[in-house]
Amino acid sequence: MRDRILKELKNHMGDYVSGEELSNKLQVSRTAVWKYINQLKASGYVIDSQTKKGYKLLESPDSLLPYEIKESLNTDFVGGEIKFLEEVDSTNLYAKRMAEDGFSDGTVIIADEQLKGKGRLGREWVSPKGKGIWMTIMLKPGINPSHAAKVTLLAACAVNKAISETCGIDTRIKWPNDIVCNGKKLCGILAEMGAELDEINYLIVGIGINVNIDKDEFPEELHSIATSIKIEKGMDISRKTLVVNILNNFEAYYKTFLQTGSIAGFIPEYKEKSAIIGKEVSIISSTQRFTGKVLDISAEGQLLVELEDGTVKEIISGEVSIRAKDGYI
Ligand code: BTN
Repeated sequence: MRDRILKELKNHMGDYVSGEELSNKLQVSRTAVWKYINQLKASGYVIDSQTKKGYKLLESPDSLLPYEIKESLNTDFVGGEIKFLEEVDSTNLYAKRMAEDGFSDGTVIIADEQLKGKGRLGREWVSPKGKGIWMTIMLKPGINPSHAAKVTLLAACAVNKAISETCGIDTRIKWPNDIVCNGKKLCGILAEMGAELDEINYLIVGIGINVNIDKDEFPEELHSIATSIKIEKGMDISRKTLVVNILNNFEAYYKTFLQTGSIAGFIPEYKEKSAIIGKEVSIISSTQRFTGKVLDISAEGQLLVELEDGTVKEIISGEVSIRAKDGYI
């Protein structure tokens, strides 16, 4: 209902709309209208209320309410349903709970703040209120679980394109799915699935982007490895515009993958934007650690690394960390 009131206020932009008109049109009481108007005000919308005239929208914040996103979205199914939460433990955890009860393919969960944001390898993902994009796309890909990692690679490609185009900064992909700028991480992607042996029940793609975070808002231990779009660009960026571009790009890439069954078509773009091809790196997994030079990324998305003895090792996207020899990347 909050979304429908916002839509009406926007339709009457520059004018007042009376509580009575809203109540009749939306079939709710005037007290309910007043309650939702107050909710919008609490979310940062500046709304003038006049006893005789009604309500007039004066200013909109950089809000991620579903209506704000949907009005600019150009997709068939991604973002068809959007759930916005002021606060949540983790959008991935929320999505997993929701998946148990059934969901429409392409549902998007967005939170303004995460209290227990999840990173890869069991790490925490810092997700301060109103400062980033903390969202999860819920999918039913109908593919074999062994192909799920490809969706995270294509997500990285789509998100990287959206960030660099929307914000005008030179971002790079650190295999498999981190996005970095000037050697520091500004976006991470955590894909998780619920599957049988040969069938995926759900695949959720959690995307975390540090958008308008200032340096001193990151915990001290992240200062040398994390950055934000604001730090790199030197100004605030509209989270809404970025979310819309990410969802539009993601759907286009994902549809191509479903139609062709392959990510080979994206690999040239992925390689062109790679942060690590040609670099000496250390690769750390739970069982081993080795160093080598990154030679290439295969058509299937594996990382090809030349070890010190000249042999070439193929690494499938998984639970590994990659570090440059001389820093984060
Ligand atoms: C990484 O460690 O690189 C992955 C970070 C993924 C963070 C995002 S934020 C939205 C979604 N919800 C979570 O709890 N994690 C992912």
